[in-house]
Amino acid sequence: MEIIRNTLKLGVEKPFVFLQISDIHLSESDENDSERRREFAADRKRYFAFAPEALEFARDYVKKTGYPLFNTGDMLDFITPENLRIAREFADDTGMIMAAGNHEYWRCPNDRFSYDDVPETYAAKNASLAEVADALGTDIRFSCREIGGVNFVCMDDSDYHIDAELFEKLKKVEAEGKPILLFMHIPLYSAHIGSEAKFSLNAPAQYFENCHPVDVFERTPDELTCQICDHIRNSPLIKCVLSGHTHVNTEILGLDAQDQLITGCNTIREITVI
Ligand SMILES: [Fe+2]
Repeated sequence: MEIIRNTLKLGVEKPFVFLQISDIHLSESDENDSERRREFAADRKRYFAFAPEALEFARDYVKKTGYPLFNTGDMLDFITPENLRIAREFADDTGMIMAAGNHEYWRCPNDRFSYDDVPETYAAKNASLAEVADALGTDIRFSCREIGGVNFVCMDDSDYHIDAELFEKLKKVEAEGKPILLFMHIPLYSAHIGSEAKFSLNAPAQYFENCHPVDVFERTPDELTCQICDHIRNSPLIKCVLSGHTHVNTEILGLDAQDQLITGCNTIREITVI
């Protein structure tokens, strides 16, 4: 697992360090799954073979350093009892705090897995996220933890949308007046993301208009999501957006309206706040 070190200047009284991981994509199955699901899991695991070793590395690194750990989603590739068990054990061992990724709601009937089985409605998506949150023992749609005078906020944008309820929660945290580090699975659009901008929130349509129609539908933001993105970009308190989803390490610091760190697969970011 690659370790990347960054420093964020927030003007805190006493410097401290935290860790970020993203997109582990656990692809495990066991005897609770049908043969078809196990075959599917084995197929997916070829893309994410690093996952078991990466989790062990991250677990040891947290134990060794004692630094708080944030995960910007896609801890699971899809929901199976074995993936949930491993994720829960990791969360218990590390105290991991997490924002939901789009793969946290990939829940399929037990006799099969298919790329067509992704929930299509907000209600179905949120029901899957609630199941994962219960299994992990942590809220993956919205949470706030204060560390060293900084509010660490995890917010769900896993389907390229942010809803009104979460926006209200974010504004309540802002009302406290402390600096905020905002963790979301999908990064905000920035021209500095490069070709992966097609996977960003509030991206101009030309980035994804040639994609599959399902992707075009999913990635076209609603009006409220556009407003929330503008709010985040213009908030004097939101100092950095930390995300994943693109599977590529990208640093947008001092380049755009909003500083961002995007963490790729098989990477730990070790971030010093000064
Ligand atoms: Fe991912």
